[in-house]
Amino acid sequence: MARVLLGVTGGIAAYKACTLVRLLVRAGYEVYPLVTAGAERFVSAETFFALARQPRGDVPYPHLRRADLLAVAPLTANTLARLAHGLADDVLTEAALAHTGPMLVAPAMNTRMWEHPATRENVAALRARGVVFVGPMEGQLAEGEEGTGRMAEPEDIMSRVDELLIALARPSEALRGKRVLVSAGGTREPLDSVRYVGNRSSGRMGVALAEEARSRGADVTLLAANLAVPAPPGVTVVETPTAGDLEREALARGDADVIVMAAAVADYRPPAPAATKRPKDGAPWTVELTPTNDVLAALGAARGPDQVIVGFAADGAGSGLERAREKRRAKNADLFVFNDVSRSDIGFDAPDNEVVLISDDGEREVAKASKRAIAAAVLDEVERVLSKR
Ligand SMILES: Cc1cc2nc3c(=O)[nH]c(=O)nc-3n(C[C@H](O)[C@H](O)[C@H](O)COP(=O)(O)O)c2cc1C
Repeated sequence: MARVLLGVTGGIAAYKACTLVRLLVRAGYEVYPLVTAGAERFVSAETFFALARQPRGDVPYPHLRRADLLAVAPLTANTLARLAHGLADDVLTEAALAHTGPMLVAPAMNTRMWEHPATRENVAALRARGVVFVGPMEGQLAEGEEGTGRMAEPEDIMSRVDELLIALARPSEALRGKRVLVSAGGTREPLDSVRYVGNRSSGRMGVALAEEARSRGADVTLLAANLAVPAPPGVTVVETPTAGDLEREALARGDADVIVMAAAVADYRPPAPAATKRPKDGAPWTVELTPTNDVLAALGAARGPDQVIVGFAADGAGSGLERAREKRRAKNADLFVFNDVSRSDIGFDAPDNEVVLISDDGEREVAKASKRAIAAAVLDEVERVLSKR
């Protein structure tokens, strides 16, 4: 049974944490509450211990309890700051410093507190360390104002907890110790020293793949092309801002066991970018773009028999899927992931995706889901291909 440390901090939403404890206990998790003095102004710690069916005070060092997950709901602006700065001045922050597994937080606070630059910096610091944020949501706040700051509903927090713990408990060992190379983001091809030709890829899909591969025990290298989201912890990050950088770094690691090329690599680039900024003079600026090298095709041509190579096809509906099938054959890839970038709710720069997985054995549609869930489906397919080698 997985153990969850549940931090509860001092906001009105502490009452909703009672429901969360019940949901966690009902799902079979062992829950150990860590209740701040601030939270006790709203709900007593006794309530949480009773709901968690834990005797209070039986643990001499509660902050050193090993757990599979540390969740904090609600998370106040105050404790968010304390966590970001590594303070250890109560049992919750002490536990957070001693905890080595995943951490999930559900912030709840007034919109102005949430939007304050200090809070933004603290959120960014925690995200960069891999902390998973659920919410906050938009809506009416306890004090009557409208805005972003409501704690996510306990059911939504619960399903994210499930997702994280299921990923941890996954029995498959097929990727453990394998060298996995993932590219993510979108390359930018300089026009001059300040301007570039780029694309809208945020890197979310590739980052989710790197994170998922890491959670399956792989030794992951992430080729990062201008990511709009932080790279996950525990992976080696190599910055590859241009198509040329990405090509060089990918080919240098072309013997990886699994290669997943999720980055949007420029197909064309300005052949001779100016070393300085072109001054504005009112005259038209004509740039002829030249094709870049096809990195995936080069990797496919040089592939080893045991490698698994995965390509992505960002295309529109209609004949896009047929083009993806053709690309898989032409580039000698095992698997192609087709996603429809003509839709605004999935694909480029969206948190969700919906894909078709194309392999030698046929095609599988994966319904719209978070990019992490899509990454899990892609890597399940990679594991299946590996198991046939
Ligand atoms: C009625 C009331 C409601 C509060 N609600 C929140 C809240 O939702 N979010 C928040 O960040 N702080 C809220 N606060 C402020 C925190 O309780 C305060 O910052 C406290 O020091 C938090 O301590 P803790 O983070 O250790 O639990 C509230 C304060 C009061 C008096």
